[in-house]
Amino acid sequence: MTYCQYCKVKQAKEFLCIFRVFRGKTKIIKSYLRGMMTASTKDKHHARVIEIICKHGKSKEALLPCLRYFQSEFGQVTEDGIAMISKELTLSRAYILGVASFYGMLTCYQQGQYIIRVCNSLSCNMLGSEPLIDLLQTQLGISKGETTSDGRFTLEVVACLGLCDIAPAMMINEKIYGNLDAAKVQEIISVLCEAQS
Ligand code: FES
Repeated sequence: MTYCQYCKVKQAKEFLCIFRVFRGKTKIIKSYLRGMMTASTKDKHHARVIEIICKHGKSKEALLPCLRYFQSEFGQVTEDGIAMISKELTLSRAYILGVASFYGMLTCYQQGQYIIRVCNSLSCNMLGSEPLIDLLQTQLGISKGETTSDGRFTLEVVACLGLCDIAPAMMINEKIYGNLDAAKVQEIISVLCEAQS
């Protein structure tokens, strides 16, 4: 434990004091404190972003945690979120969009309630992921990258999910499905459809 030279509060060495990170920027600090008092939804998100930056430092290291925060809150990285991150981390919007589009678990578009991520990398492909993708497209009536008109399902074809030992594999939201075949896929989707009807 040590004392922060900026706020004089005793704290763990790795903790970056907000007054240290944003020294001289009273507006940001006020926003953070206002967010802690849950003044408004936007302030709440702003406060969370500041909190993440305090933890990871005001650098590119904080970018992914910030993006993940908006993804988990809204199911997508929102325009407001990008603007907020861009301002606080002084990164260009184009750079942030580039990073967000690189990672399969992040998206800048509104997605369905169930996000189906089917792997089509080597192991899965060799064990038959292509016909399963075709089946999903037919069953859901959408193409890869699309969302059903009722907003229930989004179908994405992604690179290795790290589930090669149970290939062919897919994830629906956070749930893992492996050793798939046509019958299993049909049943999984039918169960989800029935659960909502
Ligand atoms: S190749 Fe499909 S999970 Fe690894």
